[in-house]
Amino acid sequence: MKAIAVIPGTKESIHLREIEKPTLSEVPNGNGVLVRCLKVGVDATDKEIIEAYYGVAPEGDDFLVIGHECFGVVEEVGENVTDFQKGDFVTATVRRPGTSMYDVIGTNDMTSDDKYYERGICNLHGFLTEYFVEDAQYVVRVPKGIAKLHCLMEPMSVVAKAIWQMDEVQRRLKVWSPKVAFVMGAGQIGLLATLFLRLRGCEVYTIARSPGPNIKSEICEDYGATYVSTKETSVEDLIARVGRPDFILEATGSSKLAFDSLQYVGKNGCVVWTSLTVVDEMLEIPADRINQEWVLGNKVLVGSVNGNRSHFELGIKFLSLGETTYPGITEKVLTSPVKGFENYGELVRLLVEDKSALKVYLDISDL
Ligand code: BGC
Ligand code: ZN
Repeated sequence: MKAIAVIPGTKESIHLREIEKPTLSEVPNGNGVLVRCLKVGVDATDKEIIEAYYGVAPEGDDFLVIGHECFGVVEEVGENVTDFQKGDFVTATVRRPGTSMYDVIGTNDMTSDDKYYERGICNLHGFLTEYFVEDAQYVVRVPKGIAKLHCLMEPMSVVAKAIWQMDEVQRRLKVWSPKVAFVMGAGQIGLLATLFLRLRGCEVYTIARSPGPNIKSEICEDYGATYVSTKETSVEDLIARVGRPDFILEATGSSKLAFDSLQYVGKNGCVVWTSLTVVDEMLEIPADRINQEWVLGNKVLVGSVNGNRSHFELGIKFLSLGETTYPGITEKVLTSPVKGFENYGELVRLLVEDKSALKVYLDISDL
């Protein structure tokens, strides 16, 4: 079967290759699920893997099949699988357990192992292929009613984890109820975070560079959030108008903006960083001022990566609620389908060059 792969660490090595179709026997105890891929998304992490900054091949192979945002349909299940049937729409989590105690208790998104296992990213092949087999415990059902949002399940799991982390940390405050939230960045994570926080009842300001109206500002406004272009309004001016936010979710992909966020959050507030930055940027920051405000204001910074099964389930619930609250809006994020494995060059071009593409994905088959 066809698969899109790279040689990790080698630039411009992306290629189409034939790999063997997996079988249920690869998963022990009859717990396997064979999934036919329908749509597979790519994101900034894939871009970094393609540009050879990130990514590790599985042991014994020199190539890595990429793709970690999958959506497909169940074709066959092992004899001990009771949760899934042929024809179910599903997605799968990305990370597989390692050996740390966090992995052992089922929270492999919090692994402290240096070597970690993520399908399509590190040490395991991914989903940009025709079929995959997975242990049922890592397969997550997608309700038919939101099948049209297909490859957004994984990005929404990352948002769900980040906001869950915020709630966990802020339990220290006993009465935490965030009212004003800033979302830094209006890429897929920023927009899905905007949706999630609006559904939580927050007043949301989604902050990005390009002036509206554009597709990002439209989606934000459809969610009842306020889109702010930093080309028109500085964050300082915004704060003068609406006050300091209780919560900031940073998803710009820029460490400069991640550090800038530290200057904006209000007292007792929480900043969650989700951007993965791979280049070695140096920065000057008003360190004393930030330090003093953070101490005097009891503020918290959390880094958040990945999503485990519970975050996928939470994300799927919020995507479902999003469809009934703001029907037909979230699918606007799915801007850039590419048909045909052989057109992987176009997939890369859109991912790397098209600044207006919110979600690039391989459209393998109709729903
Ligand atoms: C993925 C996460 C993953 C992270 C780090 C992100 O793009 O969505 O699942 O943990 O990259 O590799
Ligand atoms: Zn990702």
